[in-house]
Amino acid sequence: MPTQSTVILGTGSYAPERILTNEDLSKMVDTSDEWIRARSGIRERRIAGPEEATSDLAVEAARRALQDSGVAPGEIDLIVLATVTPDYPMPSTSCIVQHKLGIPTTAACFDINAACSGFIYALDTGCAMLSSGRYKKALIIGAEKLSSVVDWQDRGTCMLFGDGAGAVVVGLSETAGVGLIGTKLGALGEDTDLLFIPAGGSRMPTSAESIARGDQFIKMKGKEVFKLAVRVMEEAARDILEQHGLAAHQIDLVIPHQANLRIIDAIAQYLELPVERFFVNVDRYGNTSAASIPIAMDEARRSGRIKKGDLTLLVAFGAGLTYGSALIRW
Ligand code: UT7
Repeated sequence: MPTQSTVILGTGSYAPERILTNEDLSKMVDTSDEWIRARSGIRERRIAGPEEATSDLAVEAARRALQDSGVAPGEIDLIVLATVTPDYPMPSTSCIVQHKLGIPTTAACFDINAACSGFIYALDTGCAMLSSGRYKKALIIGAEKLSSVVDWQDRGTCMLFGDGAGAVVVGLSETAGVGLIGTKLGALGEDTDLLFIPAGGSRMPTSAESIARGDQFIKMKGKEVFKLAVRVMEEAARDILEQHGLAAHQIDLVIPHQANLRIIDAIAQYLELPVERFFVNVDRYGNTSAASIPIAMDEARRSGRIKKGDLTLLVAFGAGLTYGSALIRW
């Protein structure tokens, strides 16, 4: 049986309406618009309302992806949702999304936690399951309500993160050489403490003491993460290009994880690519972790930055520290 390709049939994204600007933040912590823009490139981020959970953002993005693809909810037999901010520690947010979208109870549904690399991990997993022949159409989602785990008194982290969701519908195609043509995933497990949430898991169950210390919030060693991010994203990009016998200049568009404009600029420089070849929306959303790449991909498609036949490189890093890259031929 000839191998079938796994192709993206539609994309969608959603960000909550409320905009939190750098100016707004400067009234909450000792910071300024100038500092945040100079150090990160971020101007504003979206913040979900108290009534909105990660699944609500995911559902809206998934609805838009389904509509774009022309695939009905009844045809989906797999949901892989990447998040570090699930609605609940248990069960998985994908099950909530399944129910809200009316996706059949015969669909397999699970979450993946690979932090900001989560979408690439989910895409690789979902596509591998489709390639097995046991599933036909998958919803791959990256969704986060990071505002729920941000310490709004920590000026070193609170300006970075935002809420949002992105989704793709993936199916099989008989055409060779299109769709997801390769991935490279990995993790530097020794660097877990550079970016993590100490409490709320089995190591430190939530207690009055952990809450008093603020251990339910993101802790980050920004400078160390920055340096590793540049190194691992450059390597993940180079490795996948080499695996497929491609040179960087053959990539039409790079969609990097949107964490910091300076990180994106550094990678562009190391790969010797003009920064215009990179899709950037970190200025408007900040870092939305697993949602960042699918939101960017959807905006890139809808704004005409991706055309049929183009080659796109996705590249990400995140807590773990995880990393991943993927090549997509449209
Ligand atoms: O998906 C992965 C998520 N994480 C990341 O991608 C984070 C990667 N790291 C970064 O993006 C950068 O490290 C930051 C943007 C977080 C920080 O930029 P930086 O150039 O590494 O600054 P820094 O942490 O070294 O801080 C420099 C100074 C410090 O003051 P002193 O010690 O030099 O007096 C900070 O206290 O800036 C101070 N500072 C701030 N000042 C104004 C830290 N945060 C702020 C702030 N406003 N929000």
